[in-house]
Amino acid sequence: MRMSVLLRLLALIFMLITSWALVHSYISFSWKTIRMPRWLAGSVSKKSRVVRNKCDIGKPCPNNFFAFKILSGAANVVGPSVCFEDHMIMSPVKDNVGRGLNIALVNGSTGTVLRHGFFDMYSGDPTLLVTFLKEITKEMLVLVASYDDPGTKMTDELRGLFSNLGSSYAKQLGFRDSWVFLGAKDIRSNSPFEQFIKNNPNTNKYEGWPEMLQLEGCVPRKLF
Ligand SMILES: *[C@@H]1O[C@H](CO)[C@@H](O)[C@H](O)[C@H]1NC(C)=O
Repeated sequence: MRMSVLLRLLALIFMLITSWALVHSYISFSWKTIRMPRWLAGSVSKKSRVVRNKCDIGKPCPNNFFAFKILSGAANVVGPSVCFEDHMIMSPVKDNVGRGLNIALVNGSTGTVLRHGFFDMYSGDPTLLVTFLKEITKEMLVLVASYDDPGTKMTDELRGLFSNLGSSYAKQLGFRDSWVFLGAKDIRSNSPFEQFIKNNPNTNKYEGWPEMLQLEGCVPRKLF
C-alpha cells in the first residue's frame, strides 16, 4: 500500500517535471520563432541602409568614380541642390542657394569641396561670376544648377568661360531657362553631364518656367 502511494507520488512528480520541461521548451521555441523574423527584418533594413547609394542616385558608382546629383530649382519656388560623393554641398535646407547660378567647385582628384557660391543673374553683377570662373584651375570639377533666372545678365565672356568647361548649352542660356551641368577646365570634348530646357511659354511646365532638371551619375576621378 505505501509502496503504491510512493510510486504514484513519483509518477506525479515525473509528470509535473516533464510537462514543465515541455511548456518551457515550447515557450523558448516560440520566443525563437518570434525573434527570428524580427532579427531577419532587422538585418534586411540594415542591408537596405548599406545599399543606399551616395547622393541617393539610381546606380552605385564603380571605384575611382565620384557620385553626384544636381537639381535645378523649380520655377522660383523650390531651390536647387548640389550633392557630391554623398556630401550635400548646396541646398535650400542648408540655406546657401540663390536665384541665378549656383556653383560648386571640388578637387577632381580627392573630391574635396573647394568653394561654392550663388550668383544673381537677374540683377547681380556678372563680373563676380567672371572672377569666380577664372579662378578655376585644372583638376577641379565644376557643378552648376540654375534657379529661376540664370540668363538675363549672361555675357559672351561668361558663355565662353562655361564653354571652356565643356558646356554645350551656355551659348544659348537665356531668361528663365533650366540648366544643370558638370564640367571641368580644358575638358577635351563637351561634357556628357549636362541638361538644358529652354523657357518656352508653349511647353513650360509651370506658367513662366520650364520644368525642373535632375542630373545624376558617376564622374571619373581626373576627368581632365
Ligand atoms: C587636389 O588635391 C591634391 C591632393 O591633395 C592636391 O595636390 C591638388 O593641388 C589639389 N588641387 C586643387 C585644384 O585643389
